[in-house]
Amino acid sequence: MEELLKVDNLVTQFRTPKGKLSALREVSFSVDKGETLCIVGESGSGKSITSLSIMGLLPSNGEVSDGSIQFKNTELVGKSERELERLRGNEMSMIFQDPMTALNPVFTIGYQLCEPLMIHKKLSKKEAIHESIELLTKVGIPNPSEKLKNYPHELSGGMRQRVMIAMAFACEPSLLIADEPTTALDVTIQAQILDLIYDLKEQIGMGVIFVTHDMGVVAEIADKVMVMYAGEVVEVGDVETLFNDPQHPYTKGLLAAVPNVDDKDQSLNTIEGSAPSLDEPINGCPFHPRCPFVMESCKVEKPPLFKVSDYQESKCWLQEESANDKSTVTS
Ligand SMILES: Nc1ncnc2c1ncn2[C@@H]1O[C@H](COP(=O)(O)OP(=O)(O)OP(=O)(O)O)[C@@H](O)[C@H]1O
Ligand SMILES: [Mg+2]
Repeated sequence: MEELLKVDNLVTQFRTPKGKLSALREVSFSVDKGETLCIVGESGSGKSITSLSIMGLLPSNGEVSDGSIQFKNTELVGKSERELERLRGNEMSMIFQDPMTALNPVFTIGYQLCEPLMIHKKLSKKEAIHESIELLTKVGIPNPSEKLKNYPHELSGGMRQRVMIAMAFACEPSLLIADEPTTALDVTIQAQILDLIYDLKEQIGMGVIFVTHDMGVVAEIADKVMVMYAGEVVEVGDVETLFNDPQHPYTKGLLAAVPNVDDKDQSLNTIEGSAPSLDEPINGCPFHPRCPFVMESCKVEKPPLFKVSDYQESKCWLQEESANDKSTVTS
C-alpha cells in the first residue's frame, strides 16, 4: 500500500499561564492511500489536537515543537501558512466538531462551495453551481438550490454540519480528517455520510482519519484503529485484531465499557478514575494509576510501543515478554 501520511514522534505543546503543556507526546502513526484510520480515546486524550497539528490549524497558543508530519513524502512541519493553505483547499480537508470553525459567516453557502470548485477544479460558475447542488443533495440537504443563497446563520446546526461535510468533499481530497463529524446528526444522515466517505475512498483512494467515540462506527468504517491516552498512542492495530484481541489494558477497558453491541447507544462509558493532568510531569506509564494490571515497573518507567504482531503495537510492559524476540518499534 502506498503511504499517504506519516507522523513521527510528534510533540505538540501549548503555552498556558501555568507554563508549557504537552498535549501530544511522541505520537507516531501512518495512513495509507485508501485507508481509514479511526482515532479513539477519552475526552482530552489529544484526538483533535492530532488532527489540527496535521492540518496546521492549531490554536494560536499551540505549536508543533518536535517530530515530523510527512504528507505524500513532503514535510509539513515548518511549511509556510501559504503553502499549508494551498494544501488544505485542495489535497487535505477537515470536517470539524463545530461547523462554524469551517464556515465563514459573511459569505453565502453557494459562494463558499463554488469558490473552491472554480479555483481548484477549474469549473465554470455554472458547472460549480451544478456540482454544489449535487454535493448538497448527497449530504441530504433538501431544496439545495435554495440553500445556496443562504448564509450559515440561516441554517440549523445539523444543516450547517452537512454543508461543511459537502465542502470537505468538494475538491475530492487525498486525505480527509473527520473529527466527530456525525455526532450531531441523526442515524439516517450519519449512514449517508459514512457511505459518501466510503465511496470517495473507493473512487479516488482517499485516506481518512476519523475521530469518533462511537465503537459501532469504528467497526463499520475502520481499517486501522489508534487508541490515544493522555496525549500518547497506547495501541494501534487493524480493526479485527484490536476488537478481538486488544492488548493494552486501556483499550480493554474502553471496549469493555461499550454497553452492548446490540445497544443503540454505543458510545463509550468511562473507566474509573481520570487521566493525568498534562501540566504535571508523568512518571512511568500515564495509565498506571488506573490500570488493573499495574506492576512496579509501570510506576517508574514508561513502556515503549511494543510490536505485538505485524498488525498490532501496544505501549504496555505486559507486552514486553511476548514482544521479546520481536523488535521494539519505538520508545
Ligand atoms: N488552546 C489550548 N490551550 C491549552 N490547552 C489546550 C488547548 N486546546 C486543547 N488543549 C488541551 O489539549 C489536550 C488535548 O485536547 P483535544 O482537544 O485534542 O482532546 P480530544 O481527544 O479531541 O477530546 P474530545 O473527545 O473532548 O474532543 C486537552 O488536555 C486540552 O485541554
Ligand atoms: Mg476533540
